[in-house]
Amino acid sequence: MNELEGKIALVVGAGVIAEGMGNGKATALTFAREGATVVCADINEKSAEATAEMIREEGGQASAVALDYTDLAAVKEVVARMVAEHGRIDVLDNNVGIAAIGSVTDLDPDEWDRINKVNVTGVFNTMREVIPHMVAGGGGSIVNISSVAGIRWGGVAYAAYYSSKAALLHLSRTTAVEFASRGVRVNSVLPGLIKTPMVSNTAGIADAYSSHDIEEMWRKRDRQVPMGRMGEAWDVANAALFLASDRAKYVTGLDLVVDGGLTVGFTAPA
Ligand SMILES: NC(=O)c1ccc[n+]([C@@H]2O[C@H](COP(=O)([O-])OP(=O)(O)OC[C@H]3O[C@@H](n4cnc5c(N)ncnc54)[C@H](O)[C@@H]3O)[C@@H](O)[C@H]2O)c1
Repeated sequence: MNELEGKIALVVGAGVIAEGMGNGKATALTFAREGATVVCADINEKSAEATAEMIREEGGQASAVALDYTDLAAVKEVVARMVAEHGRIDVLDNNVGIAAIGSVTDLDPDEWDRINKVNVTGVFNTMREVIPHMVAGGGGSIVNISSVAGIRWGGVAYAAYYSSKAALLHLSRTTAVEFASRGVRVNSVLPGLIKTPMVSNTAGIADAYSSHDIEEMWRKRDRQVPMGRMGEAWDVANAALFLASDRAKYVTGLDLVVDGGLTVGFTAPA
């Protein structure tokens, strides 16, 4: 219960899009259970506050902050406040990600820009502002939540999601190499099919699977996975915990796939 004892962590996207458990919320809870002081940042302040409140009710240390991480000035302010209050930032977990259905030929160009801004530019912003403090403090760990969508076609046409998640992966790898000698580790988690409210609440995903029958979509997603079931937010959180902790002190630039065998499996005909 003390893998992150004494560490100061910033989890961006620590809320959840709807009722239930999201990857960022589970990660913030897991980090706090392992002894970290967690700043829960989210564009949805109420949702960030709900996560922080849950942590405090469990006896952990957490605060919440409203943050649109695509706004560089706002990121600067949150990071400066964290450093003023806690002296340093040891862990940054970037968990934000949005998707919109659309292939190259029919996706609205504004949607293309919006998704890239949220899925890539936001991570650029937080790494840009946090890394100098990590370097000054002797090091730190950054965990970026990408997706198996960054390395595979997943059966749903969302061109901007695929390409933004791929861009995030390579940004993470190259930043890892660039800052390796200065003690900053940067790794990616690639969740597979995780059963979170984001999937049932993103317009068009359930339609792409099963004419908006959410339960049928869950069953189809279960069947896609060699383990026979989707993952849960806690699986993503536990991978992030490993990468954030000193147990991963020699691990940087890694793409950690957490997918029940999905990407190496070959789906047999139904
Ligand atoms: N659920 C899956 O199957 C799955 C699979 C692979 C990867 N992922 C990735 O996991 C991550 C989290 O997914 P989730 O299912 O928990 O989603 P979620 O939508 O529940 O959580 C993401 C949070 O980010 C917040 N957010 C959105 N825009 C923001 C912004 N501009 N600034 C700050 N916060 C913002 C949302 O309010 C939300 O609380 C995403 O990066 C997603 O792409 C999810």
